[in-house]
Amino acid sequence: MQEREFSVRNARLADASAISAITAEYARQGIMLERSSENIVENIRNFFVAEHSGEVIGCCAIAFYTGKLAEIRSLAVFNRFKMKGIGRILVEKAEAVLREEGVTEVFVLTLNPVFFRRVGYSEIRKEYFPQKIWRDCTHCPKLMACDEIAMVKKL
Ligand SMILES: CC(C)(COP(=O)(O)OP(=O)(O)OC[C@H]1O[C@@H](n2cnc3c(N)ncnc32)[C@H](O)[C@@H]1OP(=O)(O)O)[C@@H](O)C(=O)NCCC(=O)NCCS
Repeated sequence: MQEREFSVRNARLADASAISAITAEYARQGIMLERSSENIVENIRNFFVAEHSGEVIGCCAIAFYTGKLAEIRSLAVFNRFKMKGIGRILVEKAEAVLREEGVTEVFVLTLNPVFFRRVGYSEIRKEYFPQKIWRDCTHCPKLMACDEIAMVKKL
């Protein structure tokens, strides 16, 4: 694949099953939280996808918490397309949309701090984001043994 032979765009409803396939692969490996097909469909307007030759090969989503705070989540690139700059472009697209909305701070929970450091995020204590813990973490099977690292970036 030549560099930049891919594009990033807003997801459409027809992308839901491809998004589900990408995230399910990593959920099976315990790297990401599984998102049900229903949950992806419900939130499809908050997803972006990376496309190559008409195939969806990566995705990410945004979630708003306050007028100033948002999360980037469900970031994943199919294994064979990793390390080609696609993850970075997906994050940049999500950040551009958040900036337009007036968001000034974005956070992630991740098991891949190396990637997020490369795209400008810094580690922070999870307790800095009580909104996240209140909304999602209480339903997570890993609640009491959370191994994800919280990272933040000012936009
Ligand atoms: C995290 C993920 C989306 C990164 O996507 P990607 O397309 O491979 O990343 P990029 O090619 O854009 O990499 C951007 C930079 O991060 C570095 N990087 C990416 N993954 C890395 C890794 N695992 N280890 C070390 N460096 C890494 C790249 O070398 C690149 O560095 P550069 O600034 O020198 O160019 C992808 O590895 C993935 O799908 N992982 C599984 C799911 C996951 O962990 N998602 C995050 C949970 S929120």
